[in-house]
Amino acid sequence: MSELLTAIEKTAREGLEAAAQAGDAAALERMRVEYLGAKGRLTELSRALGALPKDQRPAAGQAVNRAKTELTAAHAKALLALDRGPDVADLLDVTLPGRRPARGRRHLISRTMSEICRIFGQLGFTVVEGPEVETDYYNFEALNFPADHPSRDMQETLFVGDGLLLRTHTSPMQIRTMEKTRPPVWVVVPGKTYRRDDDVTHSPMFHQVEGLAVDKGLTMADLKGVLTAFAAAFFSPETKIRLRPSFFPFTEPSAEVDIACVLCGGRGCRLCKGSGWLELLGSGMVDPALYGFVGYDPDEVSGFAFGLGVDRAAMLKYGLSNIRHLYEGDLRFLTQF
Ligand code: PHE
Repeated sequence: MSELLTAIEKTAREGLEAAAQAGDAAALERMRVEYLGAKGRLTELSRALGALPKDQRPAAGQAVNRAKTELTAAHAKALLALDRGPDVADLLDVTLPGRRPARGRRHLISRTMSEICRIFGQLGFTVVEGPEVETDYYNFEALNFPADHPSRDMQETLFVGDGLLLRTHTSPMQIRTMEKTRPPVWVVVPGKTYRRDDDVTHSPMFHQVEGLAVDKGLTMADLKGVLTAFAAAFFSPETKIRLRPSFFPFTEPSAEVDIACVLCGGRGCRLCKGSGWLELLGSGMVDPALYGFVGYDPDEVSGFAFGLGVDRAAMLKYGLSNIRHLYEGDLRFLTQF
């Protein structure tokens, strides 16, 4: 055994002894400085390693490290014994690795909403938010839903009394935003929405991101361009979209937007029921009737709007078959993403 190795082991023994003998905090601190300090004995021994023949260095280096660990542990334990008594110190093995605190993470839905808003942000939209408890006026009337018209039934509304309801979509924010600002308007509205619906693809509470652009000379081509860019950024660069004629009381013309099936790429499979397409969102050109409610001049401006189902978008992007996975709070599921 090299002389240095013997010296290291002797130092370790003496240090352990010093820690055990230290009767008060001051003595313990002297022990720490003498053995473990920046100018202490172990530091000096590590310096001497350089002078050893190459083949002896690894063993001596390991011995110094071992001595450091032992003496650090002995010091910590003696400190604890002084503070809390030897019984407590005996229960604790200060050389055990610590327990890592569990790290939280954002829910898949929050992350998906942020990502959607970030993409539209890059396309020039600003994020605004609005109330989940709404009036009939904003949720229906000012969006051109005629009173007692069957289109209101499409929404399966949850009423909360006093003429209030849980918003069935984020579209009320179209009216609230236009009431407050003059055009040009380029906003997206992330938020919770509610309907009397409950099955594997519908939850009574779900999430939408509304989009509204009102400016000079906007056409359906702008709508399609924005949504094509969104689909490319959110799903994958080659993702194709198609617009299908549809109906909403507050857009004219209206279009349902599909994306090419994320599973088969359009060839047809079980997910897309053989059609090659998946329904993603509702959209259209803002019905000029809305401008009457907010004092915009339909001869001056035009606009488009869309409402994207966030839960649906997340299910498509991550291949989820049951929307309930998103709401059961099961960490085994949620931590996969
Ligand atoms: N609000 C509609 C829905 O929830 C979606 C939509 C928004 C359609 C904006 C057109 C324009 O089904």
